[in-house]
Amino acid sequence: MKRPRFMLIFLYSFISLLPGILSSRVVTLGSIEIFTTHEWLPSKPIVYFQCQGENRTLLPDVKESHLRYTFKGEESWQPLTELTEKKCKRCGLFEMDSFKPDDVFDEWELCPDVFVDGKYIHFKDKEVNATFICLQCSADDGAQSSSSNRANRKTNVALVIVVSLLASILTIIGTTVVYKYWQKRKREQDQARFLKLFEEGDDIEDELGLDPV
Ligand SMILES: *[C@@H]1O[C@H](CO)[C@@H](O)[C@H](O)[C@H]1NC(C)=O
Ligand SMILES: *[C@@H]1O[C@H](CO)[C@@H](O)[C@H](O)[C@H]1NC(C)=O
Repeated sequence: MKRPRFMLIFLYSFISLLPGILSSRVVTLGSIEIFTTHEWLPSKPIVYFQCQGENRTLLPDVKESHLRYTFKGEESWQPLTELTEKKCKRCGLFEMDSFKPDDVFDEWELCPDVFVDGKYIHFKDKEVNATFICLQCSADDGAQSSSSNRANRKTNVALVIVVSLLASILTIIGTTVVYKYWQKRKREQDQARFLKLFEEGDDIEDELGLDPV
């Protein structure tokens, strides 16, 4: 009886984790090109990305203007942020300064629905051109059809299979537990009936014994 209960708890925690996995809209930086360093002196800029109320993410490689930096999305400082469904975040690209307020490349509302096929290009003249990646952001809209959408459908199919498998396992465990319980109950009932039969037998004997012939 102990093992099925443990497995149920394990399966339950796994299933309750699924929505979190499904709804994560992680935003990574695909590429960036800055058109200015905001520096008067020929020093290297310190470029960072930040959403309001969150930690800044330094982009350690971005040192030159007019040079396109591309990323795989797996760099140590990735991802940049995470979006929630139907909710925008005020984010921006900045250049850190020690003696004056940080320079702003651009600051804007980053929304999940701006991603087309998981990709969003943010361009500001003379400042910056950055590509952001969020595969899960455009997956739920269903409007755009593409390979990323197809990939997501594949993921969904896989999830459905996993969930059905889990459901079957749960059903089997449940049925086994119920069956075991029913067997136990039946055995107990049989025993009780058996004992009762004996008692009745005794009663009859007693009656017979008491009966004065
Ligand atoms: C922000 O940075 C601080 C200090 O490094 C860390 O403790 C905290 O968990 C970070 N917050 C987020 C949301 O990453
Ligand atoms: C910005 O970068 C993207 C991705 O490389 C590129 O396709 C696009 O043409 C660029 N836009 C401008 C205005 O430079």
